[in-house]
Amino acid sequence: MSIELPPIPPTATDYDERALLHELEPVAGRLYDRHAKVAQEWFPHDYIPYRLGRDFDKEPWTPDQPRLTGIAQTAFEVGLLTEDNLPSYHRLIHGMFGDGDGAWINWVGRWTAEEGRHAIVLRDYLTVTRNIDPIALERGRMTQLQQGYQHDAPDTLHGLAYVAFQELATRISHRNTGRYSDDPVADRIMVRIAADENLHMVFYRDILSAAIELQPSAAVRAIVDEVLAFQMPGAGIPGFLRKAAQIAKAGIYDLRVHRDEVLLPIINHWKIFELSGLDGAAEEARRRLADHLEKLDRAAKRFEEKLARSSVPRVSGA
Ligand SMILES: [Fe+2]
Ligand SMILES: [Fe+2]
Repeated sequence: MSIELPPIPPTATDYDERALLHELEPVAGRLYDRHAKVAQEWFPHDYIPYRLGRDFDKEPWTPDQPRLTGIAQTAFEVGLLTEDNLPSYHRLIHGMFGDGDGAWINWVGRWTAEEGRHAIVLRDYLTVTRNIDPIALERGRMTQLQQGYQHDAPDTLHGLAYVAFQELATRISHRNTGRYSDDPVADRIMVRIAADENLHMVFYRDILSAAIELQPSAAVRAIVDEVLAFQMPGAGIPGFLRKAAQIAKAGIYDLRVHRDEVLLPIINHWKIFELSGLDGAAEEARRRLADHLEKLDRAAKRFEEKLARSSVPRVSGA
């Protein structure tokens, strides 16, 4: 998804990051314990239809083999290449939260291990079912990882805001990809991954709630910066804009989903528009946020009007 907006420089960091991380550590500990209690252990091999597997040396992949075609195939490819880039995300997350030997570093390890399972289950599914050319997929992974995920290491508040939105965006795009596939096996995998992404979102969202209490103005400015600059983590995938446009047309992830199902639920949870006692820059940021949400709404309406004339099938209910 993309929308034309003038670039807005991120606001400067004017709080003590180390002190904030330290103050948030007990909260991170409680949220980690809650996460460990509710997160279910699961195994990628339980989700793969191995009975469909054949040797590639005896029977190489050919383009007539996939059951998934068109946008469903593109959405799976983008979903897997995005998950593949975990080493880059780990580097960033570790840089932001990896200090010390307490709850933060425990979370970084746990989160990374859970994320690793997503690429495993997606690749195994796509390889066994022959739904994507395994050679193209591996070459895509090589390109993607060598390029890395280019994102300046943000400060704690910007980083927390980005990952909260990003985990929810990923949850919804994976979930809708499963629905769109019309394949119960793929759908079950995506329901499983989306449940993980949801718990990740809840961790980051709730720790940022605690940060808002400690640093309300800096937190609001960081949140607004991240909303205005938001890009999906797959934005570096070759041909991403074209692929994202197809994914939007199918209703898997479009402006309406982004605004109504990703931005608004989290912004409302943080009660951004109800906070009082903010400094002038945070008040100004909040006005820009309201303006941005309105612009998104208008752009989403225009997109929906165009879609009414399109013949591309949409996610059911989208
Ligand atoms: Fe993931
Ligand atoms: Fe996640």
